[in-house]
Amino acid sequence: MKVLSVVGARPQLVKLAPIAAAFATTEHEHVIVHTGQHYDADLSDVFFSGLGIPDPDVHLGVGSGSHGVQTGAVLGAMDPVLEREKPDWVLVYGDTNSTLAGTVAAVKQHFRVAHLEAGLRSFNRRMPEEHNRVLTDHAADLLLAPTEEAMRHLAAEGLAQRSVLVGDVMVDVCLRIRDAVTAGEHPRPVLPDGIDPDQPYLLATLHRAENTDDPERLAALIESLAALPVPVALLAHPRLIARADGYGLKLTQGSLHAGRPLPYAGMVAAVLGSAGVVTDSGGLQKEAYLLARPCTTLRPETEWVETLEGDWNRLIPNPWTLGAEWASAATRTAPAADRGEPYGDGRAAQRVVEVLQQS
Ligand code: UD1
Repeated sequence: MKVLSVVGARPQLVKLAPIAAAFATTEHEHVIVHTGQHYDADLSDVFFSGLGIPDPDVHLGVGSGSHGVQTGAVLGAMDPVLEREKPDWVLVYGDTNSTLAGTVAAVKQHFRVAHLEAGLRSFNRRMPEEHNRVLTDHAADLLLAPTEEAMRHLAAEGLAQRSVLVGDVMVDVCLRIRDAVTAGEHPRPVLPDGIDPDQPYLLATLHRAENTDDPERLAALIESLAALPVPVALLAHPRLIARADGYGLKLTQGSLHAGRPLPYAGMVAAVLGSAGVVTDSGGLQKEAYLLARPCTTLRPETEWVETLEGDWNRLIPNPWTLGAEWASAATRTAPAADRGEPYGDGRAAQRVVEVLQQS
């Protein structure tokens, strides 16, 4: 069997790591296509080196652009790659523009598509990721769902027959790296200047278009983070830096200390070292949950609804409306509630390979 993985953005590289490792233990051929959606070393190269992913076989080098330009560039560039490689399966990951473009390119040439992390829904049609997920699920031949909730969404859309529950591959990689970090196999992460890793701090990220692309909203979110009573380590995505610069907003002010994004092991270590997480990232909400740190999510909804159980994750889209309660919410301690294993047992990637082989 020959499987061609299409990846391009940081969270997809994290998911690729356990999949590539699972393929490496088999006779199957695994071809990695990097679209180039993310190209900064901090968002791309450090994930390949840090997670032991083989170098991409093909690099499309599309870079940034508006949704149409970026999606179209990947779509066009995929045609000759698919013609040459003729894979048995095209494996697409998550919900980015690279996911949608890889899917459309493959189905148009009658290659079978499997969607990893199928069935997630925010039901917010303003999110570019929501368009990408829904369209990818309906075009793909095989839907590899991470959770029971995702299976229910797929069934509600008439897609049950193509859906298989495999668990979440992020558990595979997160727990493996957690164990390596706690065993002292990784250097301490480089946190932003002004953060003392031995004193309590919150770890924050902010990159979603809904939060970054409206100047007033972004200013209010930054002010809310800066007003917290504990130091906040803000790992700044290039989109956030670009928007803040454009609007004349300072990312380092008050309690808020901005620094560079971290490689994956650094991120896991930074979460483990923190008192809690404040974020609008999907992946980080789940990493906080898996690593038993309370998470505050700066969005009105989450795709990872399991994290909300027992108050491990709390949705706070407009922190400035809470007054003094904002600080107590963001700095709340870890709840006592048991988390169970809603995301699976850490063997999802192996299951993905088996399901692809059998389908
Ligand atoms: C993309 C995904 C989002 C995912 C996120 C993870 C879509 C629609 N969104 O959002 O779901 O959560 O990746 O990070 O696909 N930039 C750089 N260097 C880079 C990459 C981006 O400077 O290596 C800057 C550019 O100004 C670019 C902007 O960030 O225009 C946005 O990048 P883009 O890939 O379009 O979307 P993300 O916000 O990263």
